[in-house]
Amino acid sequence: MHKSVQDIINMKKEKKKISVITSYDYSLASLCDKAGIDVLLVGDSAGMVMLGYENTLNVSMEQMCMFTEAVSRARKNSLLVSDLPFMSYQASIEDAINNSGRLIKAGADAVKLEGGSIMAETIRAIVDIGIPVMGHIGFQPQTTTLSQGYKVQGKTKDTAMKLIEDAKELEDAGVFSIALEMVSHEVAEIISQTVSVPIIGIGSGVGCDGQVLVIQDLLGMYEKIKPKFAKRYMNLSEDIIKSLEDYKNDVISGKFPAEEHWFSMEEEELKKLREQIGG
Ligand code: KIV
Repeated sequence: MHKSVQDIINMKKEKKKISVITSYDYSLASLCDKAGIDVLLVGDSAGMVMLGYENTLNVSMEQMCMFTEAVSRARKNSLLVSDLPFMSYQASIEDAINNSGRLIKAGADAVKLEGGSIMAETIRAIVDIGIPVMGHIGFQPQTTTLSQGYKVQGKTKDTAMKLIEDAKELEDAGVFSIALEMVSHEVAEIISQTVSVPIIGIGSGVGCDGQVLVIQDLLGMYEKIKPKFAKRYMNLSEDIIKSLEDYKNDVISGKFPAEEHWFSMEEEELKKLREQIGG
């Protein structure tokens, strides 16, 4: 049985740190699940790291459902949370409920959406019909980029107070957890101590209840943007390019394929074939 939303809530109560990683495809999701990652997040960052868009705005519901289905086929133990993409929930509560339902049918256990107090009513409506919601405040890739570009949030007393109020409102609205992106670490720690639901930080310091990273950042596979907060655990791009160069050279030199990679006919059948074609 895979982890439940309640298991994640309990981890905060038991003072256990929560590990979250983004996942978009079957192969990598299987490895994340095997590694014991608590939550797989099908983030709309898929638009950038999987589809090559400049930002997350063009990601569609169809694409999010496809990524969610692939990850859900892979996961055995982790909780699976999927992002509601830009404009799939902002225009109406009806949109938000319908699209949350689509992600759940695609295999998600919960949905995530961006926005503070302005989203409280929408969150309440989704939670009321029984779909768990993860909030997302601080830097909000779907909209903060439009107004401010990439900017650390909560650096002044007033913006910090707004973030604390937003977190409390989301908690009241019924979220089971909140992603907190690029917020000064002091404010992130205060928020984590203020609300009862787990705060999952990204670029928000060590005081959060858990951490999330984009898997391509962690593996060193995405070169376009290298955020300061994204710790690289390996440099997979280099290894992949080196392996592909080796492969190309082996093809050119005839070193690949070797005998262990091909299939043979029975000697007798080959003889008959040669006789027939006069070889
Ligand atoms: O889409 C995403 O990857 C996210 C995380 C950065 C929290 O929302």
